[in-house]
Amino acid sequence: MNQSMVKVFDIQKDDFISAGEASSSVKKILKQLGVSPEVIKRAVISMYEAEMNAVIHGGGGKGYAEFFKEHIEIIIEDNGPGIENIELAMQEGYSTAPGNIREMGFGAGMGLPNIKKHSDQLEIKSEVGKGTTLKITINF
Ligand SMILES: Nc1ncnc2c1ncn2[C@@H]1O[C@H](COP(=O)(O)OP(=O)(O)O)[C@@H](O)[C@H]1O
Ligand SMILES: [Mg+2]
Repeated sequence: MNQSMVKVFDIQKDDFISAGEASSSVKKILKQLGVSPEVIKRAVISMYEAEMNAVIHGGGGKGYAEFFKEHIEIIIEDNGPGIENIELAMQEGYSTAPGNIREMGFGAGMGLPNIKKHSDQLEIKSEVGKGTTLKITINF
């Protein structure tokens, strides 16, 4: 594979039925590419958490997965409310998820810390009132 392959995903606001589709589709591709299970796990966890944040906090958005020879680059972007204090949002257990979301089992405040833990590179760009973009790199 000389050229990289890109997959694009729509992420719908508050859609808990198709939520997680982007990361499970990426999981299948990584398996087909023969990537090791340990690396697949890190990529899927990271993408799933970013995707769920776009569903829950970001008002929906778009996902991109670009497959290179030795790494995958995952971008999840939304045009939601943005993150006021990224340092605070990165802390374990910090969550602004409302009660109805917590009742569904989300809102443990571990998403961003887990992305950080499982990825080789994490870039967060966010502007209040404009939206949030996460760029996640996982090396094979
Ligand atoms: N895409 C996003 N848009 C707006 N706020 C976000 C986004 N992603 C995360 N946040 C903020 O960061 C907090 C922490 O995120 P996270 O660690 O994934 O925990 P959780 O999703 O369980 O609340 C969220 O509660 C929210 O306030
Ligand atoms: Mg989260």
